[in-house]
Amino acid sequence: MGRFLARTFVLFLSETRSVRKMSIDIGGMRIKYKDKDETFLEKHLVSKEPFGQFKAWFEEACTKKEILEPNAMCLATVSPQGFPSARFVLLKGYGKEGFKFFTNYGSRKAREMDLNPNVAATFYWEVLNRSIRIEGQVDKLSEEESVTYFHSRPVPSQIAACASHQSTPIESRDVLQERESVLEAQYLVPEKEVPKPSYWGGYIIRPQAVEFWQGQRDRLHDRIKFRKLNVGEQPDGKLLHEGEDGWVYERLSP
Ligand SMILES: Cc1cc2nc3c(=O)[nH]c(=O)nc-3n(C[C@H](O)[C@H](O)[C@H](O)COP(=O)(O)O)c2cc1C
Repeated sequence: MGRFLARTFVLFLSETRSVRKMSIDIGGMRIKYKDKDETFLEKHLVSKEPFGQFKAWFEEACTKKEILEPNAMCLATVSPQGFPSARFVLLKGYGKEGFKFFTNYGSRKAREMDLNPNVAATFYWEVLNRSIRIEGQVDKLSEEESVTYFHSRPVPSQIAACASHQSTPIESRDVLQERESVLEAQYLVPEKEVPKPSYWGGYIIRPQAVEFWQGQRDRLHDRIKFRKLNVGEQPDGKLLHEGEDGWVYERLSP
């Protein structure tokens, strides 16, 4: 009995060791970000408001072939009970008025945004060691803009949007494919347009704050945040700087 227990113990030890050997050292995972001569300083800002700066960084990200979807952003919404949830969506337009994306108006995120328009979105472009964080409130885009964008999508994507009641439980993939086949038979014919479902459309995030983060090798990362002035606040030119178009900016500790 004693020998059996001892053998079992030895076996257990060697198993644990080999599992440990095989496992990935997550704690040791780290990449080198930018060198000290590539810092992101206030003098490097191409614009004193966040949209111009976003344009510069986004367009640079678009030139990098390693970044397949530079417009992918992680969007966080909050439930009425205060529970946050996050998922990726694709940025489909931006300008001085805000950042646009499209989705299903019956989805979880949409239901949460109906009750609480406050959202946050984050981009991360690994090869550039850069991230942009946006915080603001969403508004729905006009029906006209949603229709125009819907019809600019490839027809199979239009059909998929019609076939999916996003975020609702579904019995099997077959059910989806069946719906897709029915719609294909109906709409994959010449001269026929897929009507945009009323439950699908766009949002615009009107930002209150946009932060530009650049990772440094020594972990003393650069963070420059644009935000709107709080009531009674004045830029002092030291911690808080006057920007353009009603924006101020400040450097945050990493
Ligand atoms: C890279 C990427 C891009 C995506 N883009 C969109 C998008 O633009 N719109 C969308 O509704 N879902 C998009 N999705 C799917 C969402 O992440 C998510 O699964 C879906 O919107 C349902 O989320 P919800 O249940 O929280 O509402 C994308 C997923 C990935 C990984």
